[in-house]
Amino acid sequence: MSSSEIADRVAQLRAEIRQHDYRYHVLDAPSIPDAEYDRLFHELRRLEEAHPELLTPDSPTQRVGATPVGEFAAVMHRVPMLSLGNAFSAEEVQEFVARIEQMLGRSEVEFSVEPKLDGLAISLLYQDGQLVQAATRGDGVTGEDVTHSVRTIRAVPLSLTVGSGWPQTLEVRGEVYMPRAGFVEFNRRARERGEKELVNPRNAAAGSVRQQDPRMAAARPLAFYAYGLGEVSGAPLADRHTGILQRLRDFGLPVSPEAGRAIGAQGCLDYFQRMGKRRQQLPYDIDGVVYKVDRLDWQAELGYVSRAPRWAIAHKFPAEEALTHLLAIDLQVGRTGAITPVARLEPVFVGGATVSNATLHNFDEVARKDLRVGDCVIVRRAGDVIPEVVGPVLERRPEGARPPELPTVCPQCGSALERVEGEAVIRCTGGLVCPAQRKEAIRHFASRRVMNIEGIGDKLAEQLVDAGLVHSIDDLYRLDLATLSGLDRMGERSAANILEELERSKSTTLERFLFALGIRDVGESTAKALARHFGSLDRIIEASARMQPYFGDPEALKQSAVKKALAAEPLIQVPDVGPVVAQRLWEFFADERNTRIVEQMRAAGVHWPEHEPAAAAEGPLAGQTAVLTGTLTGMTRDVAGARLEALGAKVSGSVSKKTSFVVAGSDAGSKLTKAQELGVPVLDEAALLELLSRHESAE
Ligand code: IVH
Repeated sequence: MSSSEIADRVAQLRAEIRQHDYRYHVLDAPSIPDAEYDRLFHELRRLEEAHPELLTPDSPTQRVGATPVGEFAAVMHRVPMLSLGNAFSAEEVQEFVARIEQMLGRSEVEFSVEPKLDGLAISLLYQDGQLVQAATRGDGVTGEDVTHSVRTIRAVPLSLTVGSGWPQTLEVRGEVYMPRAGFVEFNRRARERGEKELVNPRNAAAGSVRQQDPRMAAARPLAFYAYGLGEVSGAPLADRHTGILQRLRDFGLPVSPEAGRAIGAQGCLDYFQRMGKRRQQLPYDIDGVVYKVDRLDWQAELGYVSRAPRWAIAHKFPAEEALTHLLAIDLQVGRTGAITPVARLEPVFVGGATVSNATLHNFDEVARKDLRVGDCVIVRRAGDVIPEVVGPVLERRPEGARPPELPTVCPQCGSALERVEGEAVIRCTGGLVCPAQRKEAIRHFASRRVMNIEGIGDKLAEQLVDAGLVHSIDDLYRLDLATLSGLDRMGERSAANILEELERSKSTTLERFLFALGIRDVGESTAKALARHFGSLDRIIEASARMQPYFGDPEALKQSAVKKALAAEPLIQVPDVGPVVAQRLWEFFADERNTRIVEQMRAAGVHWPEHEPAAAAEGPLAGQTAVLTGTLTGMTRDVAGARLEALGAKVSGSVSKKTSFVVAGSDAGSKLTKAQELGVPVLDEAALLELLSRHESAE
């Protein structure tokens, strides 16, 4: 290429990249895949490196400057950056509009209505279409020069060359923000690297812009929306605010697509409602909406009070975050004995509700967030999402606050707690001795998918245990009308209903009964597999009793030598049952208290049909275990499974090393990934059909 051809190519690449930035950030309609964009960018960078004389400061490659700035220089705003008054209720909005209508002597005033982005206010100064300065709001009169960081934000054009007709001096005001997805992704990576996470997208945006090293800001996914003007030379851009926003779009600046117009207080409130509903779906956080009198001559007439305009107001959503105090970390004991730390909080109104406690999930989480009793903490409750303790405000930590100690005994029964290596949970070893576990065990036993005993829920389970009426689940079948109807808020009628339900539940199935026992790691599908394989409870108990258990580190159960030694165990012949579940069954049935409970229930009349053990499969696929995943086009997975079973294969729900092959239809997910990781052969639908037809025709 001749040097003029190279210069042409460089100019062309820059124009194309700017056009794509504009399509992406302003029109929200990208027209090329990211990889193609990267290719253009790379080509431009290569040409500029080879021909440094062609470099210009507004080239898209020049967003990240080479050196960190020292202190931020002060910037005097030639037009002050004002703030907004707030409204927190419909009445306050009505008063705001009424005042305006009265001052103007008009009704049905039109407003520009916009989302109130939750980020950092920034003023961008364009001279002759080139970005020359970016400043924070500061105190409204003097801000800080953050040009070096703001230049790294792709949504901020370095030059206005995509649009046209911009004035010589154009000061654009808007909000720098961090989209939620970028925030989550940033924190995921920070967590992976053991680095500090960002508290929320707003702080993240503010913190990123105020980095001295532009590479720090460049590494963070920031974006920008314009919402107004500062100083502008020449003729006014429009006679309405909505007209200005349109002009800004035309100049190539991003303006929120959610912005619109509304008439009167009712129109504003309708917009508020609409945005309240849309809020969760938006890719960024907003903390309210802003109403601005649309006509600029009316804005001038209305003027300002102190430092806020009379012609605009921010209507805030109930805050999603609030500060409060962490009073205590309580312990909750679940059905399986898992101990969950729960934050007891000084009640605080957040996200439209009063929050006084929040789960902390587990102690790793408590340590990761560095929470200490007495801390001032940020509590977040977004929409209907369960409240969350985001983290402590370290500057306000009281002296002497210590990290909580790991509990060693169960708060309910005093039994020792154990922590399984490699697991985050701490468990109570008390089993059914522990009242908390008993309550949960009853609730689980009675629940719909298990024994389906209507009328026995949380409340009753609690009463039954607290009153000493039920020590273990078999006691349920010893309840009588007098005892039950003697309970608080229990009429004779409901007591009779519950007894009837209990009676009805006695006729059940083996799989439900097994699931009902609450054996750790024996869920619905494992119970089903066990029932199907053995056909009788006694055979399951016998197989468990025969097993030679391993003691010590449960992690050892995953080692291949141990697995090999266990491979011959009858329990392990069941699809879905591996060493860990087998050991759990052994543990459960080796405990006499448990076998007694089972016997008591059988004596009380709990029964289920039994059948012969599943015959060792015959057929060309005998001994093979298949897993089906994804969507098949020619038949359902059930049909495919039945055809494989007819050929002697076992069909299992989860992939392990024991799996002989996985059939993956379209949209297959984690099972396919796991198969690939374990090196288990994968068949697509065509290969499945071939396999079936080969063997079925041979039969
Ligand atoms: S207009 C004179 N419009 O809210 C009017 N501000 O509480 C000045 N903000 O500092 C602001 N979205 O950082 C306006 N659509 C919007 C906004 C918005 C967010 C922020 C801005 C401002 C603060 C005022």
